[in-house]
Amino acid sequence: MQSKQLPGLHVGIIMDGNGRWASARGMPRALGHKAGIEAIRRVVEASPGAGIGTLTLYAFSCDNWSRPEPEVSALMGLMRLYLRNEIGRLAESGVRLSVIGRRDRLPDGLAAAIARAEAATAQGERLHLRIAVDYSAREAILQAARWAQGCEPLTREAFSMLISGGTPDVDLVIRTSGEQRLSDFLLWESAYAEFHFTDRLWPDFDSDALAEAMTVFRARHRRFGGLTGSAAVAA
Ligand code: FPP
Repeated sequence: MQSKQLPGLHVGIIMDGNGRWASARGMPRALGHKAGIEAIRRVVEASPGAGIGTLTLYAFSCDNWSRPEPEVSALMGLMRLYLRNEIGRLAESGVRLSVIGRRDRLPDGLAAAIARAEAATAQGERLHLRIAVDYSAREAILQAARWAQGCEPLTREAFSMLISGGTPDVDLVIRTSGEQRLSDFLLWESAYAEFHFTDRLWPDFDSDALAEAMTVFRARHRRFGGLTGSAAVAA
């Protein structure tokens, strides 16, 4: 389905460090994920004011199914709770929620809860919040390649549309917890993204951390393969 574009930047966040945050406090990992939901709330609230129109959060990758079953169950339970508890608030504050990724492997009822949440927030125009669940960028590209068979002429724009449904390319990818890798997140859409890595663990991420990332981003000179400033003039 083609997505309505909102003005503002597209920021993707790889929310990492929940487990370490919990372990450092002697808590089970699931409580780190629960604390991660508070960080999601803070960042969603702060995003429109920070100039973000689309926010994609990496919540569960296709490879995360390999985690121990109790942790996977805890994460799925938290997603269910998030949808139940946040939908009213998201709709009231003009946030449109979409979930990207596979839905056929989710536990009973979760895909239906996602569809209800998407329908309830469909009119939101302040922020497009996309949550990646059972998501793999390589799978998304492969799926688009399957759909593209027989599509002539297959342009870069047409292929992009198959992958992202019209959601703009990513401007900035943030990853928390000191790790510096993409982990199969928005590979196609991040072709010209800037990257911001912070040591802060995801449950400690807040509006100040987001503002800092945006300040760093705005100081970057994006060239998209071209030249800027005196180099462009000299050429
Ligand atoms: C990575 O930290 C985090 C995840 C795999 C899950 C992210 C999930 C949430 C923030 C909460 C649930 C999401 C929603 C949308 C309701 P990690 O567990 O790999 O941390 P570690 O590297 O310290 O072990």
